[in-house]
Amino acid sequence: MDGFQPLRVAMIGTGYVGLSTGTVLAYLGHRVTGVDKDKSKTDLLRAGRSPIREHGMEELLELSKGHIVFTQDTSKAVAEADVILIAVGTPSKDNGEADTQYVEAAAEEVAQSLLPGRSYVIVVKSTVPIGTNRRVIYVINRVMGERGLSRSTPVHIVSNPEFLREGMALYDTLYPDRIVIGAEDPEGVAAMQRLYRPILEQTFNAPSFLARPSGYGLPPMITTDPTSAEMIKYASNAFLSLKISFINEIAGLCEKVGADVSEISRGIGLDKRIGPHFLKAGLGWGGSCFPKDTAALLAIGKEYGYEMPIVAAARQVNHEQRHRMVEKLQQALKGVRGRVIGVLGLAFKPGTDDVRESPALDMIRILVDRGAHVRAHDPAAVSNAKQALEELDVEFASNPYDVSLDAEGLVLATDWPEYVTLDLERLAQSMKTPVLLDGRNMLDRGKVEAAGFLYMGVGK
Ligand SMILES: NC(=O)c1ccc[n+]([C@@H]2O[C@H](COP(=O)([O-])OP(=O)(O)OC[C@H]3O[C@@H](n4cnc5c(N)ncnc54)[C@H](O)[C@@H]3O)[C@@H](O)[C@H]2O)c1
Repeated sequence: MDGFQPLRVAMIGTGYVGLSTGTVLAYLGHRVTGVDKDKSKTDLLRAGRSPIREHGMEELLELSKGHIVFTQDTSKAVAEADVILIAVGTPSKDNGEADTQYVEAAAEEVAQSLLPGRSYVIVVKSTVPIGTNRRVIYVINRVMGERGLSRSTPVHIVSNPEFLREGMALYDTLYPDRIVIGAEDPEGVAAMQRLYRPILEQTFNAPSFLARPSGYGLPPMITTDPTSAEMIKYASNAFLSLKISFINEIAGLCEKVGADVSEISRGIGLDKRIGPHFLKAGLGWGGSCFPKDTAALLAIGKEYGYEMPIVAAARQVNHEQRHRMVEKLQQALKGVRGRVIGVLGLAFKPGTDDVRESPALDMIRILVDRGAHVRAHDPAAVSNAKQALEELDVEFASNPYDVSLDAEGLVLATDWPEYVTLDLERLAQSMKTPVLLDGRNMLDRGKVEAAGFLYMGVGK
């Protein structure tokens, strides 16, 4: 690569974001050390195996061998690094605020490990509430002051929010829509330009399993102040959430007036001002980001005495959507108590094993609460779902056909592509009452009905 200058990178946290970004940076030629507190993760990674299901991850780790190592030891990784990225979790607190304790703890550990006489760039990649970058600067300065290093070790702090989608994480990192950098000083910006240069200029050889999309140009790098960078991330997720909630609200009305929401999505999505994405009606949104980030945005507003009724409504519609879907099933079956209900899909979306805030799990909780016996399947997320639903009496099946056995209702909760090719007749025949709620509008109604099912979609 022309003029490429590799950097030594420490990635603090090798979860969905840290591992994806770290592996891509290693593939681009940087020298990366992935640090994680969780020994089970670093052990797997050292063996070349990915702790998460992410398309192309193990293949890219293999191609990046020699450029990436994994450790639990923050100090060595940080001391030798030029750029340190913090990509630890920021879960919701009970009041909706994002909990920044892991970011602060990581910042403290990083500051303890900096060496005198060297300069460092510290990047906050986690999604953090407004002002957290200032807080990170404070923590780092405090620790460095205590260590007597303030003058001898220049540190530049950068906010670099992440926009990747789980299931597409490596692809999104190699071919982002934009890169957002929030920095107060030019040194921080220059380091990020150097870090992301192969992506900004698209000079790397695209791996065969992560081919460059046709027509992909060069991604813009947006340079702004850290507070605006933090806000871009929250505003982006809030907007995407409300797009989905909007179409789900329209779907509810479509059912009443006899319109088909898929036609509405197509009809409005072709308007360039609206765009076709995130206009698919279904069980609603979930995952590790939208629920917690919209809650955090409302909490930030509250802190400033500022109401955000649009974001609040998007959350409310999303919450009600799960209940509305269970209601639909209840009506068709005349109650779910005592009935076996099969659920296809547990992950919050296809391509991932992540079940955090998954609509499928929410629906299962409501169904169990109403006395149904739930049997569920997922191609990747059963192990995570078992943990998340530990307290409930839910049965897990290793193949979709076992789910339908003697069931009186079947819910398609996650749009895994493999569910499109299911043998519908086989499913219908093994059920006591062949009723199917297509919670993702992914199956062909005609085919489902021809197989003997009573079909219900969303907004149809
Ligand atoms: N998952 C996504 O799709 C996504 C997308 C964009 C942004 N984000 C944001 O990125 C951040 C990370 O999300 P994630 O999904 O990767 O989280 P994750 O829970 O999958 O990973 C976080 C990792 O950090 C490790 N960790 C915590 N404290 C540590 C420390 N002090 N030192 C070393 N390791 C430590 C944990 O063991 C864990 O493996 C969050 O703020 C999230 O909101 C996530």
